[in-house]
Amino acid sequence: MYQIKNHKVKDSIKAQTHITNEQYLQMYQASIEQPETFWAEQAEKFLTWFTPWEKVHESDFKEGLAAWFIGGKLNVSYNCIDRHLPEKANDIAIIWEGDDPKDDKKITYQALYENVCRFANVLKERGVKKGDRVCIYMPMIPEVVYAMLACTRIGAIHSVVFGGFSPESLKDRILDADCQTVITADEGIRGGKTIPLKQNTDTALEHCPNVHSVIVVKHTDGKIDWHEKRDIWYHELSGHVASSCPPEIMDAEDPLFILYTSGSTGKPKGVLHTTGGYILQAAMSHKYVFDYQPGEIYWCTADVGWVTGHSYIVYGPLANGATTLMFEGVPTYPTASRCWEVVDKHQVNIFYTAPTAIRALMAKGNSYVTSSKRDSIRILGTVGEPINPEAWEWYYNVVGETRCPIVDTWWQTETGSILITPLPGATDLKPGSATRPFFGVKPALVDNEGKLIEGPGSGNLVITGSWPSQIRTVYGDHQRCFDTYYSTYPGMYFTGDGARRDEDDYYWITGRVDDVLNVSGHRLGTAEIESALVLHDAVAEAAVVGYEHPIKGQGIYAYIMPMHDANPSAELVKELGDFVTKEIGAIAKPDLIQWTAGLPKTRSGKIMRRILRKIAGNELENLGDTSTLADPSVVDALIKNRKNA
Ligand code: WT7
Repeated sequence: MYQIKNHKVKDSIKAQTHITNEQYLQMYQASIEQPETFWAEQAEKFLTWFTPWEKVHESDFKEGLAAWFIGGKLNVSYNCIDRHLPEKANDIAIIWEGDDPKDDKKITYQALYENVCRFANVLKERGVKKGDRVCIYMPMIPEVVYAMLACTRIGAIHSVVFGGFSPESLKDRILDADCQTVITADEGIRGGKTIPLKQNTDTALEHCPNVHSVIVVKHTDGKIDWHEKRDIWYHELSGHVASSCPPEIMDAEDPLFILYTSGSTGKPKGVLHTTGGYILQAAMSHKYVFDYQPGEIYWCTADVGWVTGHSYIVYGPLANGATTLMFEGVPTYPTASRCWEVVDKHQVNIFYTAPTAIRALMAKGNSYVTSSKRDSIRILGTVGEPINPEAWEWYYNVVGETRCPIVDTWWQTETGSILITPLPGATDLKPGSATRPFFGVKPALVDNEGKLIEGPGSGNLVITGSWPSQIRTVYGDHQRCFDTYYSTYPGMYFTGDGARRDEDDYYWITGRVDDVLNVSGHRLGTAEIESALVLHDAVAEAAVVGYEHPIKGQGIYAYIMPMHDANPSAELVKELGDFVTKEIGAIAKPDLIQWTAGLPKTRSGKIMRRILRKIAGNELENLGDTSTLADPSVVDALIKNRKNA
């Protein structure tokens, strides 16, 4: 067993951070005991309102409802740009680092203002109005930020779709939210390889009759098809519009964006976030969790296609007037030193990434790190999946040279912002633990019957009260929102995660307890992958589970009953991988496929996934009770033909 070593806050860190442990405890207590006063103070401190709210908060978890800053009026792009201009017009808002190390750009707050206003005016020219949904399918270039903020400026609701998703997935998301405008680029480029974004959009739109406008940003200048009436070059239209645009006055509870995420059943859900509560908690958590100090360079390596990119590349940092670095490429291109070269080049002070990236870089060896200086880095962060203590220690010792606190931040697309995390300077660290709740957050553990677990113990992680940046609904389907998050343990928000709480009240997230996988920090539903597989002619039935993977965290293991062939070929295995890539995207491609004549089902026909998980994970000793299976002999055959990673 790996020996976990605790790391006390160093005095040198304490001296420079916003918050001490005493202040954390005091502020946390105030936030729980007098939430209305606490959040009203924060909302005044962090945001600029056009009209103050009438009521701080109202929620009813029995119905899955929450509202914050009721009656308050504000605009997110105004909060992220305009209000900073008097003092920060010439400060850098965005540092863009291209896929090619020779490409970079710096965008001042003044330039951001003009670009966002132009983009907003382009949207208006195409008839986009407040409340309309706009799909954004873009590479990591500054224009994606302009596009997002332009939507918020005119009150349109953006739905960003990760550029790695397939045309099929893009189509589903466009249709679900009835987006009538799509913003894309000719191509993306990552790790030297191009991604045909416009071509994928064309394919998706064959089945989306309501899309009237595709705004195309020229990026690689690659060859693309053109649809005369529908397609518009961004650079052509933006040259003809004004570089100012008044911000729409938005209600605190007006929708801000939709972001699709996977669950244990059905197609991905459109998580809806609203204006006031979201931007407040994104800003506030960005300042405290990363201890952001004015003038610092902050880099989150996520893609804007995920919630991490929304809250911690775009909204949190820009609301705080920070300098946010966005990176188009991947950590291993041209070499595994890339991140540290970028850190030195731009003198990055705060670096936030995923455990999967840390493990991948760790596997390459220390020399890729030690060839750089990294002396500008002050704070390190991780997000997206549990971090194993070995990877944590490597990050701490090799990357941070024992100088930088690591914030292991737990949250979800649905939570909008970080809910469980250390605060630099305040929280003693334990490698592998996300530690303690952020201000205003009330986590708890319950057993499978919903009974609260007191003191140290393990259980299902729930949140027992509302927080400003929480999910408001699933777009177009509040019942599904209620069923997913509020019905399992009535009166509580269920996260879908399991966790342990130790004797210091620290939380250790152990991973999902539902049929959701976390592959390289990407969330995928097993049902989604199964549905894709069974669309293939050669597949009769499929069952997908996760297994422990040294770099990805979890790998995808698919058990497949073939339609005809008793001994399917190696080519067919490859074909199925390509098929899932085409249906969902490369992130969902199974790592291992096992052909089987049968699946372990109960007499009522339910697949016993517990057994499949154990076999995939090679935990063959304690498969548990198999006597309730319709045909227990299936298990022996499955074990015999098990695939090894
Ligand atoms: C799921 C949410 C929120 C940003 C990225 C992922 C897992 C997230 C941690 C962490 C252990 C974590 C959970 C959660 N997760 N952060 N620090 N430690 N697990 O967002 O795609 O909505 O996934 O990611 O399982 O439920 P997401």
